[in-house]
Amino acid sequence: MSEALLEMESPTTEEANGVTEETSIVNGNGLDAEALERGDLLAHDGVPAALISMRDIWRTYEMGTEKLHALRGVSFDVQRGEYLAIIGPSGSGKSTLMNLIGCLDTPSQGRYWINSKLVSEMEDDELARIRNQEIGFVFQTFNLLARATALHNVELPLIYAGVSAADRHERAQRSLRAVELGDRMTHRPNELSGGQRQRVAIARALVNNPSILLADEPTGALDSKTSIEIMNLFEKLHSEGNTIIVVTHEHDIAARAHRVISIRDGNIESDERIK
Ligand SMILES: Nc1ncnc2c1ncn2[C@@H]1O[C@H](COP(=O)(O)OP(=O)(O)OP(=O)(O)O)[C@@H](O)[C@H]1O
Ligand SMILES: [Mg+2]
Repeated sequence: MSEALLEMESPTTEEANGVTEETSIVNGNGLDAEALERGDLLAHDGVPAALISMRDIWRTYEMGTEKLHALRGVSFDVQRGEYLAIIGPSGSGKSTLMNLIGCLDTPSQGRYWINSKLVSEMEDDELARIRNQEIGFVFQTFNLLARATALHNVELPLIYAGVSAADRHERAQRSLRAVELGDRMTHRPNELSGGQRQRVAIARALVNNPSILLADEPTGALDSKTSIEIMNLFEKLHSEGNTIIVVTHEHDIAARAHRVISIRDGNIESDERIK
């Protein structure tokens, strides 16, 4: 993305958000102050409302008297339908960034928006709601319930969302069929291969119809043939309109994405469109 565009979209300052004294024009348009705080202005003000907007995001871990800056002022946008890979050496801040995007953590400084909602200033219960509505998370180690069937594992997010039992079964079955596990629904994780377990985790991530699919090293625990299967599945999900962000160490996995952000020492080193 060009500097100029970043500049234009930049909601970093109070002025840009219209939350200073100059809000009269906006208030004249009937927007309340709370809506402005949440960042709704972005969507109402003619400014492109990206699916994700990160502005000068810092994440500092306090270790005794030491301060460890895992992220040092990261800014970028992700548009709906993008397929983005995040690469970088171990310890560069990739998982820290994913946890922020996934609403599992909050920044020490900076602001970010998901779907025009100002997530960086939300309380835990609001974050949980956004996470449930907007985010599907896939982890390296699958994180499935060992004693539950594939079907039950996929139903879990719907239970949290209060969906009725009949609806849950229907949607979980559809999600499992979408990852070609229609014939493994009653298997438990230890009765599935590594690739199949990861596909259950992907079905679970997708069952809520999230805005963003986040995957942190999704092929890290898989052999190369199975990794290719999972990457083919991501490509299919992307072609069906899903927004996907994948963290990976592996360059051939990153090369499957359409854009690659490289992180080093908590900073964006490069941000390139490759397709
Ligand atoms: N909870 C924590 N408390 C203190 N420091 C942390 C914490 N989590 C991460 N860090 C530190 O922050 C930095 C970034 O960690 P992060 O997990 O984001 O790296 P990463 O890029 O995902 O690495 P990897 O490729 O090994 O998974 C590291 O130096 C790490 O030691
Ligand atoms: Mg990591």
